[in-house]
Amino acid sequence: MGKNIQAIRGMKDILPKEAEFWHYLESTLFDVAKSYGYSEIRFPILESTELFSRAIGEVTDIVEKEMYTFLDRNGDSLTLRPEGTASCVRAGIEHGLLFNQIQRFFYFGPMFRHERPQKGRYRQFHQFGVEAFGLSGPDIDAEVLAMSAQFWQRLGIADKVSLEINTLGDAKTRDKYRELLRDYFRANLAQLDQDSLHRLEFNPLRILDSKNPALAALIKGAPKIIDCLDGEPKAHFLELCDILDNLKIKYQVNPCLVRGLDYYCLTVFEWVTSELGAQGAVCAGGHYDGLVAELGGKSTPAIGFAMGIERLAELAQSKATALTKPKIYLALLGKNATKFGFALAENLRSDLPNFCFITNCGGGALSAQLKRADKSEAVLAIIIGDSELAKNQATVKYMRKGVSDTQVNFAELVTYLKNFGANYA
Ligand code: HAM
Repeated sequence: MGKNIQAIRGMKDILPKEAEFWHYLESTLFDVAKSYGYSEIRFPILESTELFSRAIGEVTDIVEKEMYTFLDRNGDSLTLRPEGTASCVRAGIEHGLLFNQIQRFFYFGPMFRHERPQKGRYRQFHQFGVEAFGLSGPDIDAEVLAMSAQFWQRLGIADKVSLEINTLGDAKTRDKYRELLRDYFRANLAQLDQDSLHRLEFNPLRILDSKNPALAALIKGAPKIIDCLDGEPKAHFLELCDILDNLKIKYQVNPCLVRGLDYYCLTVFEWVTSELGAQGAVCAGGHYDGLVAELGGKSTPAIGFAMGIERLAELAQSKATALTKPKIYLALLGKNATKFGFALAENLRSDLPNFCFITNCGGGALSAQLKRADKSEAVLAIIIGDSELAKNQATVKYMRKGVSDTQVNFAELVTYLKNFGANYA
């Protein structure tokens, strides 16, 4: 016998129970995003490698270490998307959706990063993201933050997440800040680890993002970007804080929040939780006003965020309950009843789209069929055998409550089930 083939490390199956919960999460996220005027956009899972190296930055963990990149049969370098922003911008430019326009998009789907798998960190994971184009903020910053707060409310997890914000200023602010940081870290060179030495040359801001506890004190003492802010970027940040205060959205300014992707400017933020161990970021994003031009479009301001659905599912699991359609099992005894029952089930499915009807397949005695009904978690069984056919009535059996069986004329089944559904909680 051949050896079992297993899923690839860091890539997990989503089994039916979990998938049902994911549907609930997805539809809640989609509903909220639509209520803010955002529309869905879908883009391919594979893109040319250059898209991500140009958008995310050559000296980032994602591009240096984590991308699934390969040559296809034509010898083109392709990459499984590690995130959605670059693809969204590429699609927006390609279809002429961005220049001189205001666009609000959302997307959902799998992303791929070759990271070390652990709880909350996978190699195939899913993101729900939003991207808004053509608005420079800070009002749009407040909108996307208010929308994310709305998600947590709807999913019942508002008490489990908190918001951290920072600003990366404009290019001038960052040039000034980079020099300050270089001077500071060069004066403390002996304390830096290999990764940080590498980052010192190319992108010293990324040292602030280091997870090495040995560097924590050094990073805490580093100059703060907020102290380099002036003019427009400063006014932008202060106004955002003012709008958030007015909306009563609580936040903390975290001067070390720089994000791991290079395209950001101005406002950056993360919604974090302490309930998921080391992987505390549930949702993260910020402004990326230079990216559209970097990818060949006309300069367009943009902001967005993405959340990890695996992390969200873990957080929301205990709080939210998925709304499922009541299940009805049709137990069909004998050839005639099976033929009749299959036709009846088709009509019931058309007339009652808010129910789920499972028809018994594979025959079996009534007791065996009721066992299957029980296993399927049906709330009612509709039993049809020769005697039911003769009387033109179904036997309705309550599977979950101590109510005795009842006979319902076939013609009255739809009304009966509608009434049942109205009282079903
Ligand atoms: P990111 O911070 O790389 O940002 O990812 C956003 C979220 O995706 C994280 O906060 C986390 O919840 C989830 N995530 C990331 N990596 C993994 C993983 N390996 N396993 C499970 N979940 C993960 C971006 O991707 C940006 N594109 C966000 C954005 C949109 N910025 C502007 N617009």
